Amino acid sequence: MKISSAKFVISNSDVSKCPNSSLPEYAFIGRSNVGKSSLINTLTDNKNLAKTSGKPGKTQLINHFLINNAWHLVDLPGYGYARVSKKDKKTFQKYITQYFLKRRQLVCAFVLVDIRHEPQKIDLDFMQWLGENQIPFSIIFTKVDKLKPQQIDTKLQAYFEVLAANWEAPPPYFVTSSLQKLGKEEVLNYIGSINQS
Ligand code: GTP
Ligand code: MG
Repeated sequence: MKISSAKFVISNSDVSKCPNSSLPEYAFIGRSNVGKSSLINTLTDNKNLAKTSGKPGKTQLINHFLINNAWHLVDLPGYGYARVSKKDKKTFQKYITQYFLKRRQLVCAFVLVDIRHEPQKIDLDFMQWLGENQIPFSIIFTKVDKLKPQQIDTKLQAYFEVLAANWEAPPPYFVTSSLQKLGKEEVLNYIGSINQS
């Protein structure tokens, strides 16, 4: 699928103020600094669309982007950022939770995971929670430019072994690098195929 237009629509912390439309949407979630905003920029070929930073905790609101005037990409704050105060963490968590539970337009959540790390409890718990709430999700492994090809395979195998303990069928997954623009077509084609079905 080709992206011909990508526009910022609105940022907010209240799911009831998200765009009042019936367009399908796809949300990016995962630990702070995993590369959610960077991936949105890579997918849309616009390095300034979503704000990115080397410091975790950059994205602090629910951000809607309108793609091809037909669907939304949603950039969310990361979870698990230790340096945010307890109160802020609770606030973020509350509106992320509300977003996933209430946003009927959400078609699929992409849970981003840094390929270099061992499976993290916070990610596994979040996927479990999505499953319990019947929210479809896929996994996007990020920053694969940081590993050699054979290391990538080993990491993927280890990750899916851990997932197999909780999931009969593994979720769809994508292997990406925003730096090298790897996996971009696969993610876009996946979205395109869901939009058409
Ligand atoms: P928060 O908004 O803080 O939750 O972070 P985020 O998940 O949106 O991460 P962001 O896209 O801001 O990227 C965090 C850092 O990782 C930045 O320094 C990016 O340049 C870097 N980064 C993102 N994607 C990649 C990638 O594919 N490869 C490499 N090497 N670095 C990446
Ligand atoms: Mg971000």
